[in-house]
This record gives sequence, structure tokens and C-alpha cells, in this order.
Amino acid sequence: MADTSGQQTGDPIWTAIRAEAWSEEEREPLLRKYLRESILKSKRLEDALSSHLAAKLATESLYPMILQALIDHVWKESPEVTRALRADLQAIRDRDPASRGFLTPFLYFKGFHALQAYRIAHWYWNQERFLLASHIQSRISEVFGVDVHPAAKIGSGVLFDHGTAIVIGETTVIEDNVSLLHEVTLGGTGKETGDRHPKVRRGVLIGAGSKVLGNIEIGEGAKIGAGSVVLDPVPPHRTVAGVPAKIVGRTEVESPALEMDQSFPHVQNEGSGI
Ligand SMILES: CC(C)(COP(=O)(O)OP(=O)(O)OC[C@H]1O[C@@H](n2cnc3c(N)ncnc32)[C@H](O)[C@@H]1OP(=O)(O)O)[C@@H](O)C(=O)NCCC(=O)NCCS
Repeated sequence: MADTSGQQTGDPIWTAIRAEAWSEEEREPLLRKYLRESILKSKRLEDALSSHLAAKLATESLYPMILQALIDHVWKESPEVTRALRADLQAIRDRDPASRGFLTPFLYFKGFHALQAYRIAHWYWNQERFLLASHIQSRISEVFGVDVHPAAKIGSGVLFDHGTAIVIGETTVIEDNVSLLHEVTLGGTGKETGDRHPKVRRGVLIGAGSKVLGNIEIGEGAKIGAGSVVLDPVPPHRTVAGVPAKIVGRTEVESPALEMDQSFPHVQNEGSGI
């Protein structure tokens, strides 16, 4: 596939991002240098994103070049992480009514940035490089206001909408095609140790400000209303809401784009195995 520069990328999402960047260069000359540095100088989506994330997360204790090399290493070693990155971008495009195209989320959506940086931290955590993973977690929290423990397991096609104040604990599992709105906590009750965090199955929508506490299962295709406190398991395809949350209905799939419905039959991703 060709972008407007005539470049063959073989990667539909990257081709689309480049085409949008070429077009924006014309419309917004003030951002020309930024677009060149962030997008147009890179050959691959991975190269552009590692540079972008490194610039945001680097400190004097971990310089951008070193951080970028650490990120590039993960993408070289783990095709699963790069597949998840594309599925996450596609999820934003499909589910977020505020998103137009791929360029804006790539450049500016901190929920997306936080999730990709978590995927890097998670990979290093699994390599038993615990301090490096914690360092990255800490920077994600400082820069994006999103705090995900690097040991948590998160599938692909996941949307952190807005991202602000999302907190995800150590033994949480989030399967594919889940959407979390801002200020969601997936936490422990404070009364348990060990495996103490929620298990969120495929296609769940968790509304803004909801607190899901304890090692409870949120069944496939369930919805949690904004501001709920969920303390009990939620059966598949049920809607719960309130404090404490109670079942208020069944989920239905009518207009995904309008409702941020979570079945997403049109999203093609190979999944993560989670
Ligand atoms: C729960 C939600 C997903 C709707 O699901 P639904 O299955 O279509 O549910 P309904 O709208 O039919 O509501 C069912 C009942 O739950 C109540 N309800 C819905 N959302 C609720 C909430 N967040 N808190 C308390 N009660 C809620 C409704 O008033 C209704 O009560 P009633 O039967 O007594 O009239 C939606 O209300 C919601 O909270 N979405 C999250 C949106 C969000 O986070 N937005 C932030 C964007 S930045």
C-alpha cells in the first residue's frame, strides 16, 4: 500500500498515519517540524512509537536513546506486543467517538501511550528485570497519570479512554477487546493477599470512575455503569451499576459506534491468548 509520499509500507495502519501526517503538514505548517520528527522521518510504526514514548518517558536517569533501545528490543523480541499495539490503535479508531483517524491517538492519546509503555514494562517484568519494569511503571504514572502494575496481564484491542487516573493492580487480568474509561480502579479490597485483583473477561466495558475490587470475575461482554463500586462477580452479558453495584440489565449489541458497545465483531485482531 502506498502513502502520499509514494512509500510502500505494507502496514495499513502505518500507511494511514503517514498519509494523515502528510496532509496535516499542509494544513498546519506550524507543526511541520513536529510531524517530521514524530512520524515522517521513521520507516516503521514501531520506530516512530519508540522514539515518541522515549521522548515522553525519559529522564536524566534513563536517557531517551537508552529508553528507545529498550523499547525497540521488546518489539524485536515480541511480535505479540507489536500485534497488540496495532489492535489497540484499531480499538481507539473503532470505539472512541472523539477519535478521527490514527494520527491523533498515536500522537496525543495518553491512554494509548500508557498502555504501550505498560506492555514494555510487562515484558521486562517477565524477564525478571523487576526494577527496570518498576522504573517504567513509575514514569508512566508520573507522565500519564495511569498506574498499571507491570505484573498485571492485559490482552489486545484494549482501550484506555482518556486514561486519566486508571489504576490496575498486580494480579489483575484483562482479556481482549476491553474498554476502561477514566478513573477506573481494578484493585484489591485491602483484606486479601496473593491473587487479589479482578479478572476482566473479553469485551467488557467499565464506565468512568468505577471501582472493581477483589479477585472477582467480570464476565464476558458485561458492562459496569459509571461510578459503580463492584464487589461481587458479574455474570457474562449483564449490566451492573450503583454502590454497591447490582444487576440492572442485560447487555445488547445494537449500535457499537454510538454506545461504545463491546462486542466489536468488526475488529480483526489475533488476540493475545489472555
Ligand atoms: C451502565 C451503562 C453502560 C448503560 O448500560 P445499559 O445496559 O444500557 O443500562 P440502562 O441505561 O438501560 O440502565 C439500566 C438501569 O441502570 C441505571 N443506571 C445506568 N447507569 C447507571 C450508573 N452509572 N449508575 C447508577 N445507575 C445507572 C439506569 O438509570 C436504569 O435504571 P432504571 O431501570 O431504574 O431506569 C451506562 O449508563 C454507563 O454508565 N456507561 C458508562 C459511560 C461513561 O463512563 N462515560 C464517561 C465518558 S467520558
